[in-house]
Amino acid sequence: MTGQAEIDTQNIPAHVAVIMDGNGRWAKQRGGLRVFGHQSAITAVRETVEEAAELGVQYLTLYAFSTENWNRPALEVMALMQLLVHTIRQETSTLLKNSIRLESIGDIATLPKNCQRELAEAKELTKTGTRMTLVLALSYSGRWDLTQAARRMTADVAEGKLKPADVTENTVASYLVTANMPDPELLIRTSGEQRISNFLLWQLAYTELYITDLLWPDFRKQHFQEAIRAYQRRERRFGKTSEQITVS
Ligand code: IPE
Ligand code: IPE
Ligand code: MG
Repeated sequence: MTGQAEIDTQNIPAHVAVIMDGNGRWAKQRGGLRVFGHQSAITAVRETVEEAAELGVQYLTLYAFSTENWNRPALEVMALMQLLVHTIRQETSTLLKNSIRLESIGDIATLPKNCQRELAEAKELTKTGTRMTLVLALSYSGRWDLTQAARRMTADVAEGKLKPADVTENTVASYLVTANMPDPELLIRTSGEQRISNFLLWQLAYTELYITDLLWPDFRKQHFQEAIRAYQRRERRFGKTSEQITVS
């Protein structure tokens, strides 16, 4: 029996977000350089994308590089950017074949020009994909997102396009870079760290958190399935009582 058989296909999260963490530790355990860990993480990315698409997830957001990750040693940053270029180039045909649309969120203008070019090309090539949207969070942080939203919102107020009294939660959400996506129902974090690390701060308000001790390069389809099963066992109350939820 495959792991998929025990999954309730009627209760698949529309949006799953992943903090792919633990590459450095994975490499260190094997006596390798941190970069070796990043290179070894591509299989995990591929398996997660495939499994999410197979299960019917509509949006898969992968935290690939945070605003704070710019503070890592320059050589590691450079290696990550190169890996990004190579991986996008290598995987675009698979995305196309599987009707997966590539998107990105983050301060993309800060990425090296060749990364920006590669990303833009892949996004353009895959833009008609309807099966799933794969969102790469690159030079992204939740505070960056909220700050750019505040900047654009106040500019619109200054120009008279928006009245302060009309600002609702939906207005704020519409200025975030995730404006057209549902909030994630499930957040997966590998490597056992119990924190958000400045990921989707607004969007994770009611997201179910699933943390596994596995290091990201070891993450496979069966582990994604296990996260979905764990999600399906949760009771999502949104502030209500359990009785309110279970009465049909
Ligand atoms: C995640 O693995 C990859 C990125 C943050 C780019 P890490 O590089 O953070 O690995 P650890 O946490 O040091 O083991
Ligand atoms: C979070 O991992 C960012 C990404 C996975 C891209 P980090 O390794 O940067 O997080 P911290 O520093 O341990 O919180
Ligand atoms: Mg880390």
